[in-house]
Amino acid sequence: MEAHLIEWANLAVRWVHMIVGIAWIGASFYFVWLENNLNRVNPRDGLAGDLWAIHGGGIYHLEKYKLAPPKMPDNLHWFKWEAYWTWMSGVTLLLIVYYLNPSLYLIMPGSDLSPAAAIAIGVGSLVSGWFIYNFLCDSPLGKQPALLGLVLFALLVGAAYGLSQVFSGRGAYIHVGAIIGTIMVGNVFNTIMPAQRALVKAIEENRTPDPALPAKGLLRSRHNNYFTLPVLFIMISNHFPSTYGSHYNWLILSGIAVLAVIVRHYFNTRHTSNSFSWALPAGALGMICLAFVTGPSLSTVSGASDAQAAKTIEYQPLPATAIGGKTAKQAAEEAAKQPAPAEQPVAQATAPAAGAGFDKVHEVIQVRCAVCHSAKPTNSMFSAAPAGVMFDTPAQIQQMAPRIQAQAVATQAMPLGNLTQMTPQERELIGAWIAKGAQVN
Ligand code: HEC
Repeated sequence: MEAHLIEWANLAVRWVHMIVGIAWIGASFYFVWLENNLNRVNPRDGLAGDLWAIHGGGIYHLEKYKLAPPKMPDNLHWFKWEAYWTWMSGVTLLLIVYYLNPSLYLIMPGSDLSPAAAIAIGVGSLVSGWFIYNFLCDSPLGKQPALLGLVLFALLVGAAYGLSQVFSGRGAYIHVGAIIGTIMVGNVFNTIMPAQRALVKAIEENRTPDPALPAKGLLRSRHNNYFTLPVLFIMISNHFPSTYGSHYNWLILSGIAVLAVIVRHYFNTRHTSNSFSWALPAGALGMICLAFVTGPSLSTVSGASDAQAAKTIEYQPLPATAIGGKTAKQAAEEAAKQPAPAEQPVAQATAPAAGAGFDKVHEVIQVRCAVCHSAKPTNSMFSAAPAGVMFDTPAQIQQMAPRIQAQAVATQAMPLGNLTQMTPQERELIGAWIAKGAQVN
């Protein structure tokens, strides 16, 4: 029941997060587009430009003022709640998915980091990320936007590397995303909104606005603009174990971020210059290169023969690391109540040639995977098969062979948190079976 409620809380918050996130990023994309497409030829007095557009069956005429209209309108629309709600729902989602059960998605499998320490590192990274960023922007470095950009990028790569040393791949990825998201919303709250308020106030009081504030706001909103594509990738990244599941996950993330920023730059500049027309093909080529270098041949633990793979598979007893934010004792008690995979070896191979036979693979999957991936999971953290993936019948296992390869052989994304203590030999065994065509007798 608890697992079921958590799933629905996850659903509701994730849905809200997506909706408000679309509203935020959508508005931001729209205004960048508007700015770039304004007709600036012979504008009316006091105007910077205007634009005609048709959408949803209506024709719109938008005008941008150089500074402000002679009289401020009664109803000036501000864009901020989209950002605030995106952050609030994002943090709630972080809590539901990662902090409620740190051993599942957050902590690196096999590490003895306690749930409390892991959460402290996670929250600490968001808070310190913002303060370091804000400090650097306000420092003399802020006057050199290109250098500042490079320093910020290097720091984020450092954060990705550091987090990947303590967190699971997806835990590290989502925290890099959350650091960037926090910086983005911090920019809205702390710099952009105050700058806009000061501007409006100065106009209302007939003063010349202080140019320093809008300049600061502009720098921050430019940063936000370049941050959007990397953050959007991180949001969808947990569908792609060849990225977060790789040993070099932090490097892959950095590569994708660079490509995303280049592509964003192309879209930002294409209205005014052609000098970045190479960026789009370069981005596509970069993604193809990344697909190639993350390919299974390079990340699999290859070289082991079937015979080696079929060697006796031994299990260590479940360690007393805390599961799901519980104390070690509670977790051990809970583990004792579950059908314990830790006790008996599943595949005692005698004939090496039978290394890639389905029987053993079947047993391994029953013990290591089906506690969660079943129509009726026995793991108490799930009330339904995660991602709808079930390994109850040989046919189901065979059908999912390519995904099993991606999740448990090419990468070690599954079993989640390696809660069921899958061994490298078992991964090789399954890999060998899939390589031979995933036959189920
Ligand atoms: C502790 C529970 C648990 C165990 C054990 C587990 N999984 Fe999963 N698995 C999950 C969850 C949760 C998801 C959904 C993850 C997500 O949100 O992407 C998932 C998703 C998957 C997916 C679908 C993801 C995709 O993108 O295709 C596959 C395939 C998969 N697991 C394979 C395995 C295999 C193979 C094993 C055993 C080696 C295994 N899992 C063991 C919890 C588990």
